[in-house]
Amino acid sequence: MELPFAESWKIKMVEPIKKSTRAEREQWLKEANYNVFQLEGDQVYIDLLTDSGTGAMSDRQWAALMMGDESYAGSRSFYQLKDVINRITGFDYVIPTHQGRAAENVLFSALVKEGDIVPGNSHFDTTKGHIESRKAVALDCTVDEAKDTQLEIPFKGNVDPKKLEAALEQNADKIPFIIVTITNNTAGGQPVSMANLREVRRLADKYNKRVIFDSARFAENAYFIKTREEGYADKTIKEIAHEMFDLADGMTMSAKKDGIVNMGGFIATRHEDWYEAAKKFCIPFEGYLTYGGMNGRDMAALAVGLDENTEFDNLETRIHQVEYLASLLDEYGIPYQRPAGGHAIFIDASKVLTNVPKEEFPAQTLTCELYLEAGIRGCEIGYILADRDPVTRENRFGGLDLLRLAIARRVYTDNHMKVIAAALKNVYDRRNEITRGVEIVWEAPLMRHFTVKLKPAGK
Ligand code: F0G
Repeated sequence: MELPFAESWKIKMVEPIKKSTRAEREQWLKEANYNVFQLEGDQVYIDLLTDSGTGAMSDRQWAALMMGDESYAGSRSFYQLKDVINRITGFDYVIPTHQGRAAENVLFSALVKEGDIVPGNSHFDTTKGHIESRKAVALDCTVDEAKDTQLEIPFKGNVDPKKLEAALEQNADKIPFIIVTITNNTAGGQPVSMANLREVRRLADKYNKRVIFDSARFAENAYFIKTREEGYADKTIKEIAHEMFDLADGMTMSAKKDGIVNMGGFIATRHEDWYEAAKKFCIPFEGYLTYGGMNGRDMAALAVGLDENTEFDNLETRIHQVEYLASLLDEYGIPYQRPAGGHAIFIDASKVLTNVPKEEFPAQTLTCELYLEAGIRGCEIGYILADRDPVTRENRFGGLDLLRLAIARRVYTDNHMKVIAAALKNVYDRRNEITRGVEIVWEAPLMRHFTVKLKPAGK
């Protein structure tokens, strides 16, 4: 008999989690203004809000933490981190930052100015925010196939080379760089193929532009290249990662995802001029150049995390769990962005809550319903997250309206996946009775989804 699949680790420490009653959850959600970001962690049973900073560190990472060097300047832990980044990416220049958006803030302060256009594939909301707040445009050049959630193709996160070339042809002088997000979070944790990264490089070279990878989930992207793209099955994740980064000029990194630390990030690049330009903003915004907002011990743990999570077994365990959840949803007929993403399942709310008009935010409504059902906290990646158009101030209803179930790394078991799928099935079974959504009571002008206040529509 063939042995079944099992995790590539065993558990050394556990953290109890608490269930609640539906009446309690109704009260808590109301107090949270129907925005799950406003819930207290203890009001949540299974937390799928994000895979960012929520992973479980390994024994090696905890051991590294004890060895962290807290020297203000020249920390040994910084040099350990720099060495690992250099080994994985080939980039010589490294600036630590306190998280991914800080890396964006520092680097974009040097590179993005008013009137610029930054083409890419579904810029993450902080990335878009850091571009738009500088009065520049984040131009989405993702392949159209990403919008059809039921289409099953291997690299749905790709950049559409035609859209990118059109942008380069028309506006070359306004484009400071191209940014490719690997994996493409907003489109569903979907990977970008090596062939596509190569094509982006070719176009960048043709128009004399540089390329940045938003690399929060680069290791998961490498896993998908290994398992889905021809010619990579026999390469190691580290070899594939290096080959990916060979096609870029620099990277921003949220280390809270594939670095498996709870806080941290960095900028890395092969270009001295970018490093020199970014340095000037690191010191006032983040801190001195060898810590940039991170503790020495966190840099030490990150160095180990990056090394561990660019090994196949660790990634296979993780992505297998996400696929397991997807297989349960398939059994129940619940529509999600296909195929399953690297870090999350994205439920297609517009196909579930068909009676809720888009003006009443179906994905946010589904997020609330799932919480009320079982205390499971997902996250809307849809019309609320999309913010308003900076010029017309209209809601942006053009993209997908999804409920993201992000799976923390090395945290929940497959039994938790069963609970999540069953809770969703219960909501799905009564979907036709859900006819009203939510309406906005108050919102921030930018990145509104964290703080938006909502109420049940029509009440
Ligand atoms: N880029 C991508 C692709 C991201 O997914 C994130 C964060 C960032 C940049 C910003 O990094 O949070 O460290 O400042 N994504 C989290 C999420 C918040 O839940 O998807 P950060």
